[in-house]
Amino acid sequence: MLTLNINHKIIKVDVPEDMPLLWVLRDVLGLMGTKYGCGIGECGACTVHLDGEAVRSCNLPVGLIGERSVITIEGIADDPIAQKILDAWITHQPTQCGYCQPGQIMTAISLLKKNENPSNEEIEREMSGHICRCGTYQRVKEAIKDAAGEVEE
Ligand code: FES
Ligand code: FES
Repeated sequence: MLTLNINHKIIKVDVPEDMPLLWVLRDVLGLMGTKYGCGIGECGACTVHLDGEAVRSCNLPVGLIGERSVITIEGIADDPIAQKILDAWITHQPTQCGYCQPGQIMTAISLLKKNENPSNEEIEREMSGHICRCGTYQRVKEAIKDAAGEVEE
């Protein structure tokens, strides 16, 4: 039995320690907002926050998490920086099919938490690990610049 801190709640789960966190979130806890894309840490669809850092959950064994806090897309509602990102997403409408978007949003939030005024290059570097088959990269960048309080040129 493992004890996890997920979305500000202490939860016990009876799973093998080597089960990837993504499986625990989706299949055990029913938190379906975090997506399965590649399963090998290459696409970003499964991104969550671990103590505030954006991490891939598809290749993170749940037994390695310990007491660190996990936040998924379902757990961001009360976060003011997340709210800025969500407002900018509504304004700039990057979402097409939507599959990659929860992961992109989680990385965008963690970026603004550590750097409230990122340059274009910093945004591109941070978001470069996210693959979007719908090609929303430019609008995602515009939304992040807007959330950071900058006028997109
Ligand atoms: S599903 Fe985790 S990085 Fe692609
Ligand atoms: S919006 Fe469709 S994969 Fe990104």
